Amino acid sequence: MKISRVRAVYFSPTGNTESVVKTIAGQLAEELDVSLQIYDFTLPENREEVPVFKPDGLIVFGMPVYAGRVPNKMLSFLQNHFKGEGALAIPVTTFGNRNFDNGLIELRNELEKNGFHTIAGAGIPTEHVFSDKLATGRPNGEDMERLAEFASEVSRKVEEMTEIPAPIEVRGDDPVGPYYTPLGTDGKPAVFLKAKPKTKTELCDKCGICAKACPMGSISAEDPAQVPGICIKCQACIKKCPVQAKYFDDPAFLSHVAMLEQNYTRRAEAELFV
Ligand SMILES: Cc1cc2nc3c(=O)[nH]c(=O)nc-3n(C[C@H](O)[C@H](O)[C@H](O)COP(=O)(O)O)c2cc1C
Ligand code: SF4
Ligand code: SF4
Repeated sequence: MKISRVRAVYFSPTGNTESVVKTIAGQLAEELDVSLQIYDFTLPENREEVPVFKPDGLIVFGMPVYAGRVPNKMLSFLQNHFKGEGALAIPVTTFGNRNFDNGLIELRNELEKNGFHTIAGAGIPTEHVFSDKLATGRPNGEDMERLAEFASEVSRKVEEMTEIPAPIEVRGDDPVGPYYTPLGTDGKPAVFLKAKPKTKTELCDKCGICAKACPMGSISAEDPAQVPGICIKCQACIKKCPVQAKYFDDPAFLSHVAMLEQNYTRRAEAELFV
């Protein structure tokens, strides 16, 4: 099948999904000898214009898994703003060493509903934004090689394809199951839905980097210590603050992170579907 362009499309508050998607898409564009376009819909200002996809495109579409599913606050944007027009797509889910549960199958299903044809899929372990003890430093060089091999396999599939195949089979429940319930160290549900980051005001020079990095536009530009909007716990503000002034101190959130560190330090493997 002839493809005219590859597009890397992603939501990636702290950059793991971006690097995974760009690696796969870059390799595909090279092997198929077509141009590569990038659409990063992480920030609110990038979600105002709706991109047009043409049937002769191949889209590598990446989102991190949050609570075992597509990030809840991004679901309606995913459902309402992407029209595939018959383009081929590869759903890619990154996850923080616990499990991607139903995140990949949910992304596949939403892309299929939006008029894309999914031809491959990937669940990729990456460092957990909550703790650098989980999948530390991943994706690393070895992961990148694996992703490039995956892209080569997909590119061969595209070249040999004569008709649109059935939606790619990936791991997960269909219909998609419930969200994962975060647990604390006591094994009980850790409820931190309303937690928001705090600010060490003695360190903060009000540079505004955190406010610009927040995918929900929730941090006040005038006073970055204030978070009037919704917080999805993505950790972008924490990771991007140059003086480490942002932190979470919610006890339920910290207990969940401790539980993850107690139970999920084993090496998770990439799951690739072609
Ligand atoms: C709110 C939230 C929920 C998460 N839930 C899960 C999960 O259920 N399983 C898992 O393995 N990782 C989970 N993660 C980890 C992320 O999927 C992982 O760190 C991902 O690489 C972040 O992508 P990004 O760097 O593109 O923002 C969660 C992260 C956040 C912020
Ligand atoms: S990025 Fe850090 S230093 Fe800059 S405004 Fe935000 S909290 Fe303050
Ligand atoms: S305030 Fe919440 S949603 Fe905004 S960047 Fe920080 S962690 Fe993410």
